[in-house]
Amino acid sequence: MVPPAPTSEVTTALHGPVLVVSIHNPPVNALSAAVRRGLADAMAQADATPEVQGVLIVSEGRTFIAGADIREFGKPPVPPALPDVCQRIESCTKPVVACLQGAALGGGLEVALASHHRLAFAAAKLGLPEVELGLMPGAGGTQRAPRLMGAKAAAELMLSGKPISAQAGVQAGLIDRLEEDTRLSPLAAGLAYTQALLAQGAPVRRVRDRAVAEPAAALVALQALADDTAKKSRGLFSPLKIIEAVRAAVELPFDEGMALERRLFLACIDSPQRAGLIHAFFAEREVAKVPEARGAAPRPVASLAVIGGGTMGAGIAAAALDAGLPVVMVERDDEAIARGVANVAKVYDGLVAKGRLTEGQKAATLARFTPTTRYADVVTVDLVIEAVFEDLEVKKAVFRQLDAVCKPGAVLATNTSYLDIDAIAAATRRPQDVIGLHFFSPANIMKLLEIVVPAQVSPDVVATAFELAKRMKKVPVRAGVCDGFIGNRILAVYKQAADYLMEDGASPYEIDAAVRSFGYPMGPFQVTDLAGGDIGWATRKRRAATRDPWARYVEVADRICERGWFGQKTGRGFYRYPPGARSGQPDPEVLAIVDAERARKGVRPRTFTAEEILRRYLAAMVNEGARVLADGIALRPLDIDVTFLHGYGFPRHRGGPMKYADTVGLPQILADIRRFAEDDPLFWQPAPLLEQLVAEGRNFDSLNQPAD
Ligand code: COA
Repeated sequence: MVPPAPTSEVTTALHGPVLVVSIHNPPVNALSAAVRRGLADAMAQADATPEVQGVLIVSEGRTFIAGADIREFGKPPVPPALPDVCQRIESCTKPVVACLQGAALGGGLEVALASHHRLAFAAAKLGLPEVELGLMPGAGGTQRAPRLMGAKAAAELMLSGKPISAQAGVQAGLIDRLEEDTRLSPLAAGLAYTQALLAQGAPVRRVRDRAVAEPAAALVALQALADDTAKKSRGLFSPLKIIEAVRAAVELPFDEGMALERRLFLACIDSPQRAGLIHAFFAEREVAKVPEARGAAPRPVASLAVIGGGTMGAGIAAAALDAGLPVVMVERDDEAIARGVANVAKVYDGLVAKGRLTEGQKAATLARFTPTTRYADVVTVDLVIEAVFEDLEVKKAVFRQLDAVCKPGAVLATNTSYLDIDAIAAATRRPQDVIGLHFFSPANIMKLLEIVVPAQVSPDVVATAFELAKRMKKVPVRAGVCDGFIGNRILAVYKQAADYLMEDGASPYEIDAAVRSFGYPMGPFQVTDLAGGDIGWATRKRRAATRDPWARYVEVADRICERGWFGQKTGRGFYRYPPGARSGQPDPEVLAIVDAERARKGVRPRTFTAEEILRRYLAAMVNEGARVLADGIALRPLDIDVTFLHGYGFPRHRGGPMKYADTVGLPQILADIRRFAEDDPLFWQPAPLLEQLVAEGRNFDSLNQPAD
């Protein structure tokens, strides 16, 4: 007689001589404490029950097991620990088979590797993605995967974090057999395989008993990987730990390798990078949970139009084409539309040149693309995105035309990056259909999409925008209407802090270097050179009339632009870009311009350490972030974090600016701002929300509750 199910998340049932162990822990069968206990108990049951000749581990739902329960990290551990559970599976005295469907990731793959035989459906994905969370496999993955697939391939799987197909898993030696029949359930396929193995007398076969192939060559390959990783991983903690653990799989007996893996894993768990990366993981999923998405059904979108064929319009068109939509592009005349067509073609030619797309795929994609100069061609379209020149009157004129031709219920979106969308909506007779979709350049690559919600928009239009973002594989963040929304509004403030630092004594090169040392791929002046200095210059000139005459204004960038130095595209900006040079070089003439501006303003330059530069730069970002929250422009601090991770290069392992502020401690940030205010009280005014949180002993995370 088989005892009752060990836990409700893990049930057991005897099918002939096979004990079927079923995992049921929706949505993704994460290895929570109850699942771990259930698996361990099921193995004990298998060993203790004489009728049992073999064991099959299967999962219910679309996923085999998505890994450890990420929500448990950082909390006190609850036994049994996953390595012990895997050890228990491997030590089972009856052959254990795992049948993998959907995702078998992290601890999920480790459970499979601890089993004695592995069957996988052809569509299954196998991976050890812990590195993405600042971690490493911690339940034998670093010891068992190298024994099956070789040390180099195993280390690469763990370092990339990317899953491989079941087919690749078979080739690599991780999977014994592929199940091609998609009509079969995991239970049916797994049972058939287990019964066949039992009929053949297949043994208990433990990965721990194998040795890593070609150990000498493996050590050489690991050293090369370590050298490369040290160069590329930009201060990340876990990648080198992964290589260290894999090396132990080559050099040490299994149990010693496991002990080392445990020590290294716990060090990763304790690292603040783990906290930052896990915050990012959940924040990216929380952003889609907005009040409008609850209850409002998205409108169907089967076709899309883009107004404007510039870089932005072409990028948006490509993003929509890549999502499988038919796309109409409207420009004002033949010449402009020819440029638009060329801009879209350039995107796909680039992909073909890089080998990411075939000519045939390019042609198939472009067959869904219809360039036109007539607004009449958008009458049947479900959603229109305007991406014309950034000028309120120009945009209003476009929306008046759209209002005249678009069918009722069409969603009318603007890609403006800072203009008043309420005013744009008011130019139409259907403000309930007007929304902001702020893409980031290049729009077919950058993940961030600010969904800007004007006052009168209907909730189902907001829901439609979130649905579109999902189809385009974007990370959507809900933002309110203000100058610059979430991202550009905050950027304007910390960019100002960078300009003040420059005028007060730090060189642009010191500032960029400090910002890079924090983990950014580029500093702010490098970004200006990449984007083109003329863009910001034009905006500054437009805004000159409305600028607060008392506010401090740094003119260095204007002096540089006046010389025609617009950055990379002109070969000169804050840096020099000699032909053939791979990166910009500091320019003594730029330093002379900075000196001249300081002299003109009577500024006596000070020196700033890299730490002081960073403190100011980040405090400005966090302080404005607090204002954006208080104004309701961002729903929660996590929305700001995701905006900066996906649109502005903020280092992911720090979780975003608001998470970073919590890590440093809000009292520290506030004390810094008060200290900076001693010299410049106008710029460094502490945000009232920041003061309030400090007074109440709270952090930003306390505001990250789900939106009501
Ligand atoms: N632990 C806890 N919760 C998890 C989880 C895990 N390992 N993996 C996913 N979830 C949660 C998500 O937070 C989400 O919750 P929500 O609906 O409350 O927002 C839900 O499961 C669905 O996940 P989602 O990513 O939205 O679904 P998907 O179908 O697009 O992708 C996976 C599924 C499994 C591919 C993806 O969730 C994933 O990659 N998970 C992480 C795997 C991992 O890193 N494992 C190693 C852990 S060390």
